[in-house]
Amino acid sequence: MMNIDFNNVFEENIGQFGISAEAFKQKKAMIPQIHKQMTEKKAQMKWRALPYNQSELLEDIKNTAKRINEQFDAFVVLGIGGSALGSKALFSGTKHTFYNMLPKEKRGVRFFVEDNVDPDRLCALFDVIDVKKTMFHVITKSGNTVETMAQFTIVLDLLEKQCGGILDNIIVTTDQKTGIMRQICDANGFKCYVVPEGVGGRFSVLSPVGLLSAAVLNIDLEDLLEGARTADAACCKETLEENPAYMYALVHTLAMEMGVNISVMLPYADGLATLAEWYAQLWAESLGKCVDNDGNTVHAGQTPVRALGVTDQHSQIQLYNEGPFDKIITFIDVKEFHRTLEIPHPQTDMMDARYLQGQTINKLIASECSATKYAVTKNGKMNLSITLQTLDAKAMGELFFFLEMATAATGEMLNINTFNQPGVEEGKIATFALMGREGYEQKRRELQEQRKPKEEFLYTV
Ligand code: PA5
Repeated sequence: MMNIDFNNVFEENIGQFGISAEAFKQKKAMIPQIHKQMTEKKAQMKWRALPYNQSELLEDIKNTAKRINEQFDAFVVLGIGGSALGSKALFSGTKHTFYNMLPKEKRGVRFFVEDNVDPDRLCALFDVIDVKKTMFHVITKSGNTVETMAQFTIVLDLLEKQCGGILDNIIVTTDQKTGIMRQICDANGFKCYVVPEGVGGRFSVLSPVGLLSAAVLNIDLEDLLEGARTADAACCKETLEENPAYMYALVHTLAMEMGVNISVMLPYADGLATLAEWYAQLWAESLGKCVDNDGNTVHAGQTPVRALGVTDQHSQIQLYNEGPFDKIITFIDVKEFHRTLEIPHPQTDMMDARYLQGQTINKLIASECSATKYAVTKNGKMNLSITLQTLDAKAMGELFFFLEMATAATGEMLNINTFNQPGVEEGKIATFALMGREGYEQKRRELQEQRKPKEEFLYTV
């Protein structure tokens, strides 16, 4: 269960930089049309079916996960963006903070998500895993992503050299029909899951993309999907009063119109720091669009910022409180942590710090969260609060689905295509050209002919 409080986005609570009653009333008139669009497009948004249509697949995933835990020491996800961030968020949201360092009897296989091509990092991974005893889950919807293909090639080579075979250590999740990875899979007979057609990377966490990681980590898949269904039940409702996704979309759209171009996600739980990373991709890649559905140049979007309570109280909060009125903050707090930690009475006299003794760290983090909400509200900054009863698989399912629905509804309000990412293409094509891929010769020439940098703006220190 989660509660969402939108009070502190309004002028009556935060003053002149809040949303006025009049602006809210006017924008609210859009809701019947937005609901109609969200309902009509439901079948197209195939990720909305994921909490309901995978019961057969779940058995297969659970059996595979069981086998992985029995036969391997480590499980490594090779993927990037939407193919990696959901697994990362699930891992940190539900498992022990130092999971991989726990003694073997207290955990499953060690778990890693490799979503970069930093050579030092990749080599470091090979320093701490035995590739022979590692299952690699290669995830790429397009089947062409340069980073994932490069990682995969390195792993294949290591497996060929060290095991003499590759089949047992690789599972692939990719498109049913298209992409280089699909061809490689078909040619080599890897165990393969499918990213369902019409499910884009950043909306794929509840497909095999995230579910295999979840099962390997012994996260209850039914709970995860039940959480998503709970969110769906609310986020399919017709009216603004009943539907928190529409409310989230509405206040963010209004905020953008007021020049509030930054969306901060500020969870007060370490386990949710990576959810903020997942949200950053979802919000940025979905809503950051040059043209709207009618072809008008709009440069829509809001820059997501990930922060963490209480850590960022000693870093970014000064700016949030006293800086420009350009942010809307989503606090996420957790009512009941899994453990309680008392602040004890050591023999040493704690002097003026004695007031802490006999209280709990749980109370401290809750108090700091309340105090920060109070301060940003007093400083007139838009903020809203999502409160979770506890942080578990159900809560993660709820959060994922709620935020996906909120993002989709915001895209409808902005009249943009939420599900494409044309802005990523230019860089991808340039990378192919620089790496010498066939068919990209013209782009390579274009890159070589780029304007030379002026000496006067170059410095060497
Ligand atoms: O959300 C998206 O579509 C992207 O972030 C992709 O997930 C990312 O680019 C990786 O793509 P792929 O899964 O095709 O390798």
